[in-house]
Amino acid sequence: MARIFSGIQPTGIATLGNYLGALRNWVALQEGEDECIYCLVDLHAITVFQDPAELREQTFAMAALLLACGIDPARSILFHQSAVPAHVRLGWIFNCVARMGWLKRMTQFKDKAGKNQEEVSTGLFVYPNLMAADIHAYHATRVPVGDDQLQHLELANDIAEKFNHDYGVAFFPRIEPLVPPETARVMSLRDGTRKMSKSDPSDQSRINMTDDADAIAQKIRRAKTDPEPLPDHIGALASRPEARNLVGIFAAITGESQEAVLARFAGSGFGPFKEKLAEALVAHIVPVGERTRAYLADRTELERILQTGARRAAAIANPITAAAERIVGFLPGAE
Ligand code: TYM
Repeated sequence: MARIFSGIQPTGIATLGNYLGALRNWVALQEGEDECIYCLVDLHAITVFQDPAELREQTFAMAALLLACGIDPARSILFHQSAVPAHVRLGWIFNCVARMGWLKRMTQFKDKAGKNQEEVSTGLFVYPNLMAADIHAYHATRVPVGDDQLQHLELANDIAEKFNHDYGVAFFPRIEPLVPPETARVMSLRDGTRKMSKSDPSDQSRINMTDDADAIAQKIRRAKTDPEPLPDHIGALASRPEARNLVGIFAAITGESQEAVLARFAGSGFGPFKEKLAEALVAHIVPVGERTRAYLADRTELERILQTGARRAAAIANPITAAAERIVGFLPGAE
């Protein structure tokens, strides 16, 4: 049995990108042999200032959404990161293993900091070290993510390798990313060259997992396309990012292959295609939004689920982290 770990930031509302790139995979992986650990990464969230009341609210909202998507807290461990201090303890050790040059190469940091590198928090810079600790604190080896996280997972492997090498141990295993082949990167509805993101200023650029039927239909109707009809083979989509993105979403949400989708709509304009796409999205997403609202109505139950998850997570992460601390040379603590 292997262990699976993944995380999502409890900021904003999860998008169709989060769902098709990661969350749907999280749910499917519960059916396998592996132990699944899913984390609301609130420590990561505050690398950019969060209003405290909003952070609390969004942590509940993201927990409710994960349950609504089908995460089963009886089978998987679902918890909030700040509740298990092992993440921070191992994160500090990794701050001392990772090299400045490695972190400076992280494209997500460069994107997020932009020209503002002197002004962003130091947490934003060392964020990938904490992310490595999230995974390695559990000796997890399989990590379901969208492709924007791949560079961070390579770094997590580099950190583990350097730790093992520096201390002469074979303690941290290698991580294998699990990326869905066709929806590893769902793109913005307004610009097919940019990732769909919950932090995009335009709400029209994304489908939120809590959008109602009207909002979904309207966003798909207005989604950017090009004047050409849909082609009859996938190769012809290469230079048409918006069309390629919508065909990818259509296939992912209906479970059809992209070839089958094109066979159905080849030669047609985007009107009828968009209508069917909106229908499929509404059928899939609106019930998730409804279930999310139902889970959100019972905060006591959500808190109970997260706290139970945190206790189970700590029972795995504490001994592994304590062993890493002994390897480093720390005297035993109060455990
Ligand atoms: P976050 O919160 O930005 O996103 C959560 C997951 O959604 C995926 N994703 C997408 N996939 C496809 N298309 C998109 N447009 C899209 N947008 C987001 C992300 O790849 C991710 O899998 N650093 C992580 C959270 C994290 C983590 C971890 C993940 C913290 N510790 C340990 C794995 C293991 C993040 O900010 O994800």
